[in-house]
Amino acid sequence: MSEKESKTKNRKIPQHIAIIMDGNGRWAKARHLPRMAGHRAGTENLRRIIRACTEFGVKYLTVYAFSTENWKRPKDEIDGLMQILSDVIDRELVKLHEEGVQMRHIGQMEGLPPALQEKIKSAVEKTRNNDRLILIIAWNYGSRNEIVHAFQKILLKEAPNPEEITEELVSKYLFTEGIPDPDLVIRTSGEMRTSNFLLWQSVYSEWYFTPILWPDFDREALQKAIIAYGKRERRFGGRFKQQKKEIYAD
Ligand code: FPP
Repeated sequence: MSEKESKTKNRKIPQHIAIIMDGNGRWAKARHLPRMAGHRAGTENLRRIIRACTEFGVKYLTVYAFSTENWKRPKDEIDGLMQILSDVIDRELVKLHEEGVQMRHIGQMEGLPPALQEKIKSAVEKTRNNDRLILIIAWNYGSRNEIVHAFQKILLKEAPNPEEITEELVSKYLFTEGIPDPDLVIRTSGEMRTSNFLLWQSVYSEWYFTPILWPDFDREALQKAIIAYGKRERRFGGRFKQQKKEIYAD
């Protein structure tokens, strides 16, 4: 085991990492390549990061791959991204399944090409009993859309009195139902915005921003983010020392 590896071994490993995979376009531009080459490089990198997460013992990995705002992009880029997800499922699912990866989808299914909807649903179904790593793909996802969608479903299914609307009830109707909140959210490429990603779920997440462009965000960069996370003191709105005193009071 290298010195770096043993460093990660001794640190707190976030149970759930969520990533805003940003910078594919700039990565391609810097190489005078078309934007799609950046998205393909980003896809290869995602494979490496999935592997690193299983190695490090991360249990949940959420990746923001296509947002509700990405429909504003030119049609050929949108079509290219839809094709990438379809190809990834065709090419990688058997291997991911063998590796014990469960695939989940968060986002609005309606609006996606019907063939892709079927492919996503069957990949989710095929891998539903795997538990080594839960890979959550945010595709046609936006937090505001998710919250509106949750309220529509609550009104339809539960018709609650106002006092019956609780945080637990709202959480139950989000796309992320049953998934623990992310411990660490990483955004690559130097941008420092949340961009409509997991707004409800990330209120107490640790955020980590790096200038590295997504296709270059490798295993070592992930390890660095995990080490930085391990050094943070998470208080969840409380006062850590006071909480500690209470814990040790008796
Ligand atoms: C942001 O970079 C990236 C995206 C909008 C797409 C992310 C998609 C992948 C990595 C493809 C594969 C994903 C899966 C789940 C199969 P950008 O294009 O906004 O980059 P820029 O800000 O440098 O222009």
